[in-house]
Amino acid sequence: MLIFRLSLIICISCTPLCALKLPSYTLACSRNDPNLNDCVVKHGQLAIPYFINGDPKYKVPRLDPLFITELTVQQGIRQIGIELTLKNSSIYGLKNAIFKKARTNITGQHIEWDFEIPKIYIIGHYEVSGRILILPITGNGKANVTITDLKITYKYDWDYITKKNGRKYMNITTSSLEYENGRTYFQLENLFNGDKLLGENMLTFLNENWKEVTTEIGPAIGEAISEVFRLILTSIADLVPWEYIYPDI
Ligand SMILES: *[C@@H]1O[C@H](CO)[C@@H](O)[C@H](O)[C@H]1NC(C)=O
Ligand SMILES: *[C@@H]1O[C@H](CO)[C@@H](O)[C@H](O)[C@H]1NC(C)=O
Ligand SMILES: *[C@@H]1O[C@H](CO)[C@@H](O)[C@H](O)[C@H]1NC(C)=O
Ligand SMILES: *[C@@H]1O[C@H](CO)[C@@H](O)[C@H](O)[C@H]1NC(C)=O
Repeated sequence: MLIFRLSLIICISCTPLCALKLPSYTLACSRNDPNLNDCVVKHGQLAIPYFINGDPKYKVPRLDPLFITELTVQQGIRQIGIELTLKNSSIYGLKNAIFKKARTNITGQHIEWDFEIPKIYIIGHYEVSGRILILPITGNGKANVTITDLKITYKYDWDYITKKNGRKYMNITTSSLEYENGRTYFQLENLFNGDKLLGENMLTFLNENWKEVTTEIGPAIGEAISEVFRLILTSIADLVPWEYIYPDI
């Protein structure tokens, strides 16, 4: 189970039925371009430095750092499971994302995007209780989780809807995120209420078994990032008609 709250400050500068064009820093790609995928990667990469600071007009929050008010991961049942909450955390590093590949299937209404991010830091406040890979763990304090060589594939499908203004819009129906990463480093202050020996042993254990730990808690973090992608896409698709996203030129 995942509970996720993102604090978005949204300025409504566009009424529900106005039709925005893509932001001026995002060049559209023709749906008829024989090299559509190359165009998407090139234009997408150029837009990242602009998007990354947020764009209230398109309801895009600041993405680096990306502030997450609260992220709770509950896994397994009480006593043998784990509950981990991150509060007031900031994710740094998305600005260095490299757009690697796009696979665009307009007729199949399916798109896949591959990104690589050299390094991500998640800095915030954690609270944990339960068991991680069978070992009991408790604590709350400052957290610094470093993730290296992150490879993300984001996939989504859409339907078309026609709004009252007569224009056609994309409606994202399903989306998913797959990822793998090079390494994960954990720094958690004040584990076991500040018991130094237990805390240091646990950190050594977590860092030595980073792969298994990432497998256990990673999917929830992945889901949170996926939700961010979905939110951004959904708001853009909701504001910008289909004909401006992939124009028929
Ligand atoms: C998170 O931030 C809010 C608002 O700034 C603050 O009231 C709260 O105490 C913070 N929580 C933690 C655990 O730092
Ligand atoms: C695009 O999607 C359609 C319908 O699902 C499928 O028939 C077609 O093979 C797909 N094209 C590519 C290039 O994958
Ligand atoms: C987080 O940890 C990394 C090393 O893994 C370090 O380089 C970075 O400065 C730390 N950031 C903070 C805010 O402590
Ligand atoms: C858009 O897609 C979602 C998910 O499939 C669906 O719940 C929603 O009703 C759709 N919106 C419209 C206006 O059709």
